[in-house]
Amino acid sequence: MCMRLLTCLGLCMFSAMFTYASDTPEPILPGVWKIRLGSPEKLTPLKYRTKSPAKDGFSSLPSVPQFPLQPDEIGFETTPRGCVVSLPFSKSERFYGLGMSTNTFELAGRKAWVVPSDHPEETTNESHGPEPFFVSSHGYGVYFDTARYAAVSFGNSYLKGGEMNVEAEIPTAHGVDVYVFAGPSMREAVQRYNLFSGGGPLPPLWGLGIAYRGKGDFSAADILQLSKSFRDTDMPCDIFGVEPGWQTQTYSSTFVWNTAKFPDPGDFIAQMHAMDFRISMWEHPFTHPTSPIHEALIPYSGDHQVWGGLVPDFATEQGRKVFVGWQDKVLFSKGVDSVKIDEVDNQPFKPDPWSFPDFSKFPSGLDGEQMHSLIGVLEQQAMLAPLKAKNLRTWGLVRDSGALAAPLPYTLYSDTYDHTCYLRGLTKIGFGGHMWVPEVRDAKSVADLVRRVQTVIFSPYAMINCWYMKMPPWLQIDAGKANAGEQMPEAAEATGYVRSAFKLRMSLIPYLYSAFNDYHQTGLPPLRALVLDYPDDPETVKIDNQFMFGPSLMAAPMVDGVSKRSVYFPSGDWYDFFTGEKIAGGRRVEVSKGLDQMPLYVKGDCLLPLAEPVNHVGKDTTFKIHVRVYGSHPAPFTLYEDDGETFDFEQGDQSQVVLSWDGAKGSSKRSGTYTPIRNEILNWEPMGS
Ligand code: GAL
Repeated sequence: MCMRLLTCLGLCMFSAMFTYASDTPEPILPGVWKIRLGSPEKLTPLKYRTKSPAKDGFSSLPSVPQFPLQPDEIGFETTPRGCVVSLPFSKSERFYGLGMSTNTFELAGRKAWVVPSDHPEETTNESHGPEPFFVSSHGYGVYFDTARYAAVSFGNSYLKGGEMNVEAEIPTAHGVDVYVFAGPSMREAVQRYNLFSGGGPLPPLWGLGIAYRGKGDFSAADILQLSKSFRDTDMPCDIFGVEPGWQTQTYSSTFVWNTAKFPDPGDFIAQMHAMDFRISMWEHPFTHPTSPIHEALIPYSGDHQVWGGLVPDFATEQGRKVFVGWQDKVLFSKGVDSVKIDEVDNQPFKPDPWSFPDFSKFPSGLDGEQMHSLIGVLEQQAMLAPLKAKNLRTWGLVRDSGALAAPLPYTLYSDTYDHTCYLRGLTKIGFGGHMWVPEVRDAKSVADLVRRVQTVIFSPYAMINCWYMKMPPWLQIDAGKANAGEQMPEAAEATGYVRSAFKLRMSLIPYLYSAFNDYHQTGLPPLRALVLDYPDDPETVKIDNQFMFGPSLMAAPMVDGVSKRSVYFPSGDWYDFFTGEKIAGGRRVEVSKGLDQMPLYVKGDCLLPLAEPVNHVGKDTTFKIHVRVYGSHPAPFTLYEDDGETFDFEQGDQSQVVLSWDGAKGSSKRSGTYTPIRNEILNWEPMGS
């Protein structure tokens, strides 16, 4: 089998220089092949991954003995600019992926950048989560192992002879390892890529509750007071986020507690823990000259500064040791549960940006371009170590991620605030290994607030991010008035709507925990565009505003405060989650919903475990479960039980409860070694047949 050389007169002299290290796809895992083209760079995402492939998960997938492409359809050449890989393209083919741009979806006919940016809403595909992996509707996926700013064109230009290809240009590099993932459909190709990356993360149970971040300059007293008010007013909340003002200096940062605001950090954290809040601390990598670690970091940082601070080289062991050792001392050893890693994206074009130049040099040998592609992933990995050493899972936030990120327990967020784009982000996460939160802050109207909240509760991380607001938005949607302490007249009404959305989220925690166990074991993302679950339905190809949430719920959030939208129902029976109304699929329906409900549907023939909503998840929470039965032949559903916070489940300390329905009554069968009951099945509720 011989790969095809791209032929182009002007480039022949360069083409002649390359050699294939292998011209035959090498099977490396079930349904995964590697092809080495030219001489790949040494510093690539694969070199830095900390998790090996989740090999066991492949047994859950159909076996695909055959390489999904014709090997001679793959072309390669080196050029004065780097190298180009070409892959087949057909006019009927559709393409998805390349990371978390929130303003691109189906990519056929387009050129798309795989470049980190502070602007994920550009149609050019730069994003907070550039990922050189895409899937094709022909049922395969392709990963380019590069930290370069790649550009992929999907039938975007014609060759002289009139042909069109998928063409990936990788600057600087004279070769690349390409990994091809078989289907049979895109869904399994994504699963194989995520398993290859190490499998999805299992969140701590508390990570699936509600997260609230307070104003940037809040003191310990402000945070304690607001947190207490959440408990007193029955507003569910599990995670409280502490923003930059916890430090003596920020932008760049010292990572030293400001004792004027936080006189006793350990006591503050203990008091929050006593109310069952988990703490998430803001930080970024840029280290200020007055930070105690500044001097030690000088040899292990890049040659350019950001905001007067050093950029740690997380690709060096010493750099990690200095930076993370300090964070362990001031944060994790005091009980901090998670971090928000800010500003690791790229903002090259503004005055005083949070970026270093692409030509910067780092001691690890990475240049600035490569570091921009890797810094988010490297810092996420590094910051996990202290918690792992304490046998604690975490659930964090990050402003930029990259390739092979599936196992990292962090969710991407953004300052950009376009609700349509935020929703598209949720729809897109299933094309790769990232998670996304369409955070909520202020709003244009109560309806806008409620619709935003109804979107964020269907994300991996349900976050209200009030970093510039003193008051929660359900008391005041206008940031200026919130900071002046003025409650809005509609506060009671808005609070009611938001509380019931939060409670809906809380009732879905056991269901969502099962979906994350699937992600962990089989690589199946918990949120998926309809085209992944219904690949043969042509209607689903462009649907970027509704998605599957777990195995059997379909969410179709409303944006901009509207009360009507069109929802597509793939073939089969569907049920309105709120009214129980049965809806025949295979068609579009114009749906109206008041603010007390949203378009949320349950697939026919499934069991949906719903918990009585708790206000927060405690160490010993037992969920009281009502099992809704949809259709006459529902598929069994597995609940997972473990301590919800350590890694003991990886050693097998986990139990499964299989729910099934025999047509007249339900039964639950428990197996496994974890003994405390975390889900008490109260009753079974047939919802129609
Ligand atoms: C931004 C970040 C916000 C908030 C803010 C605090 O960079 O995206 O979520 O943390 O900084 O100043």
